[in-house]
Amino acid sequence: MRYYVTTPIYYVNATPHIGHAYTTIAADILARHHRQRGEDVFFLTGVDEHASTVARIAAEQGLEPKEYADRILGAWQEVPHRLNATNDFFIRTSDDGHKAFVQDFLQRMYDAGDVYQGVYAGWYCVRCEAFKTEAELVDGKCPVHEIEPEWIEEKNWFFRLSAYQGRLLELYDERPDFVLPAFRFNEARSFIAGGLQDFSISRAGQPWGVPIPWDRGQVAYVWADALVNYLSALSYARPGEDLQDRYWPAVRHLMAKDIIRFHCVYWPAMLLSAGYAVPHQLFVHGWLLLDDRKISKSLGNVVDPLELIDVYGADAVRFWSIRAVSFGQDGSVSIESFQERYERELANDLGNLLSRVTAMIARYLDGDLPHRPSDGSAVRALVDGLGDDVAGRLDQYDLTGALERIWEVVRGLNKHVEERAPWRLAEDASRRVELEETLYDLADGLRVVAVALAAYLPETSARILDALGADPEEIGWDGVDYGLTPTRTGIAAASPLFPRIDTPTAAA
Ligand code: MSP
Repeated sequence: MRYYVTTPIYYVNATPHIGHAYTTIAADILARHHRQRGEDVFFLTGVDEHASTVARIAAEQGLEPKEYADRILGAWQEVPHRLNATNDFFIRTSDDGHKAFVQDFLQRMYDAGDVYQGVYAGWYCVRCEAFKTEAELVDGKCPVHEIEPEWIEEKNWFFRLSAYQGRLLELYDERPDFVLPAFRFNEARSFIAGGLQDFSISRAGQPWGVPIPWDRGQVAYVWADALVNYLSALSYARPGEDLQDRYWPAVRHLMAKDIIRFHCVYWPAMLLSAGYAVPHQLFVHGWLLLDDRKISKSLGNVVDPLELIDVYGADAVRFWSIRAVSFGQDGSVSIESFQERYERELANDLGNLLSRVTAMIARYLDGDLPHRPSDGSAVRALVDGLGDDVAGRLDQYDLTGALERIWEVVRGLNKHVEERAPWRLAEDASRRVELEETLYDLADGLRVVAVALAAYLPETSARILDALGADPEEIGWDGVDYGLTPTRTGIAAASPLFPRIDTPTAAA
């Protein structure tokens, strides 16, 4: 199986906030999970540099746009790096390989007879990089960014999107899971059914961007350039190797609902025009809201993901992002909820469980755990079907549901400790086998949890496996099954997985 997953490429007009980290975390969980299943995975993220705001901000700072982009690049690369994201490539739209590919792509659309010259006049939101109809504006402002759009009148090159209405509807009717969740599919389909307007694929009087091959005085409209990244990256990410045959169209695009139209309507039509297969699937998630407002730079309620990682660690940020809000829905977050979940779920439910189990193995069994699986084991019942359940949910992008399913096991193991009370079994030499079976079950249950959690909490998973004397690299999905822990020796009490944090984060 080939599995190619992408995040949107992020605008570099400001520094990253937690909303950007969100999609990267989700994509990384899927990439890691599919690698655990032995699939051939490619994970792409990166930055969108040709927005008109970039040229403006650069000019304000007395820099060339490319100089500005070069300077801010580190901040954007730092996010996947510090999150332990396993992206196989980081694309910049200023890469020569990308620019050449975009030119070829647009030329193909032109050669297909789908591009014509026209004049456009309308309200343009520079933050959305999109024209807005009067009906879309709220009090004369862009409803997403709450800023006033600009009136723009230009002679541009247009893509005949209207000609693709029929083919897009066919696509949607043939593939009911082309866009998930279903309500987003319906939203995109009704937009198409409502009639499509041609859109401008070029901008005049602006040097920052990819020159239109047949009209060098214009550059590609930022979306006509950016969307192509998903395909262009495959042409140069591995010099000498064209990954297109390998990963296209096995692609899953992740994005938030703000850019659904570009991905669910414009992008498949552009691909059809240029003669490429359409993507396998698109998943549209909600907005992460802070105090009920979308987190965004222009609204001034930014939470810096790097500050959160500094204080709590990458795994805690990954955990909270997926746990606090049901993936796919909008959800409100607060830093207080972060601290609360950190203590209750990570430090107590999981961290204490590992500390207790390893301490008991060290104390009651001298660190030596014999192989003692039992048929009637409650832990066997607890983890039974876990691998299929989690994989099935992740196939539906139910990242939150799959994590909850794993957490049921964590809670079940805690309950098992209380019910079996190994400290009492240890007082009675005649109950030695029961004691061994109980501690075996708990250690094996924790190993299963660690493998199941490896995609979500890679550092924690490795630490749990290591504490149990298992190989931290052994996280193949077959391992999500009861009774696979062999006899182990030398298990010592593990140090806390999630230490107490008393200082409230500076980001609060
Ligand atoms: N550059 C375009 C995308 C081009 S893709 C061919 C763009 N960039 S962006 O920087 O504005 O990033 C938008 C994406 O960032 C969203 O679609 C989403 O994936 C992520 N998010 C940004 N803020 C977010 C939230 N507050 N909540 C959830 N996701 C958020 O649009």
